[in-house]
Amino acid sequence: MSDVLASLRQLLPPERVLTEPSDLEHYGRDWTRQYPPAPLAVALPESIEEVQALVRWAVEQNVALVPSGGRTGLSGGAVAMHGEVVVSMQRMHRILDFDPIDRTMTVEAGVVTETLQQEAREKGLYYPVDFGSRGSSQIGGNIATNAGGIKVIRYGLTRDWLAGVKVVTGTGEVLECNRGLVKNATGYDLRHLFAGSEGTLGLIVEATMRLTDPPRAPQVMVMAVPDMDSLMQAFAMFRERLPLTAFEFFTDKALAHVLAHGGKRPFDSEAPYYVLVEYETPDDATGEAALAAFEHGAEQGWLIDGVMAQSETQAAELWHLREGITESLAARTPYKNDVSVRVSRVPAFLADMQALFAREYPDFEVVWYGHIGDGNLHISVLRPEAMAMQDFVTECGRVTGMLCEVLQRHGGSISAEHGVGLLKKPYLDTIRTPSEIELMRQVKRVFDPHGILNPGKLFDA
Ligand code: MLT
Ligand code: ZN
Repeated sequence: MSDVLASLRQLLPPERVLTEPSDLEHYGRDWTRQYPPAPLAVALPESIEEVQALVRWAVEQNVALVPSGGRTGLSGGAVAMHGEVVVSMQRMHRILDFDPIDRTMTVEAGVVTETLQQEAREKGLYYPVDFGSRGSSQIGGNIATNAGGIKVIRYGLTRDWLAGVKVVTGTGEVLECNRGLVKNATGYDLRHLFAGSEGTLGLIVEATMRLTDPPRAPQVMVMAVPDMDSLMQAFAMFRERLPLTAFEFFTDKALAHVLAHGGKRPFDSEAPYYVLVEYETPDDATGEAALAAFEHGAEQGWLIDGVMAQSETQAAELWHLREGITESLAARTPYKNDVSVRVSRVPAFLADMQALFAREYPDFEVVWYGHIGDGNLHISVLRPEAMAMQDFVTECGRVTGMLCEVLQRHGGSISAEHGVGLLKKPYLDTIRTPSEIELMRQVKRVFDPHGILNPGKLFDA
């Protein structure tokens, strides 16, 4: 193995090939915690040419590469546990171009989401794909997972903002897809293959992202809701009456965890469910419409209590009640389910899923939250402290198999936005047909004929 390392060290300067145990541990894992990291080394390229050289070297040496962004993924897609070389994009973090007419920004893959958002704001524009891990996640990783988050209801997913992408394929070839064009009717749009490819088809090195107008005076409300039917009624009403930018939900258990980690209780009333509504207020009439909507919801019994942010600080505090959930649960190494159904199917699906979880998880704490306006629910199962990690994962895996059956009945997906990675790989064939999976395998072979790009993720090649 030392020959392999020696040849890797020929490609990059010594400070950009890491082999210290603490680095292998740090770069070998993502935000899923159940996979023990064990990469061979970590490479930190600074240019496309260096990425190409790494790929050619990997083909020659038959070493697997694990592309690595901010490693904020929740399905083990960026985990390296079998002697792979992690290719971290963190040194490729330049903003390459801004075009005010096209309203695009071209960036290297390692640019952090929040940096792109800030750069856009400085130009009077807005990059709308947003989520709690904005301060660490990188654009390349966002594309590779087709990241969604908290504004999808209004702005869609990462793929909807991807105007062009440059990748290095598994043969070391550089492929430039779509070049920022709005219209380009010249056959297969390969750019979209890379959105959600989880690093299995190529290393994303550059991307051209679209920008838009900033939201007009966003306003935030958090409200208490007595039951799921009321929640869906409230959603339909707010969507009809207000220019929504987010409609998020969480349960009393989720709120309790955030409050235990320093969150501020929004009001005295308690309820099983809470919603956070964000909407634009371009004029006074919209502000009044929001109040009228709240009053109507209260009269109907859909809303028990509510608070409207009176300042940016308070808006951030309210958002923290939803965005702080992941962090507040992290120490409990939750098993995460990230499921979706069509919005119209949410109530029926929820009833079946609640029954399943009540039956199968009577002794586990289950915390629900998510992007209910997109039909996307996160269900985090917390490990009882006395239970060994492996027993816990096995038990959760068993119930996930049953959850897949419920999802099949409702036409849903076992991964809405967290990807498949390692965590959901065993369930892919319950949601995708054998011919779909075989086609995906064939596509992988075309882009990665030597099987060196993130092998074992998504499916076994
Ligand atoms: C979220 O919506 O908070 C994220 O997808 C992360 C999570 O599920 O914990
Ligand atoms: Zn989410």
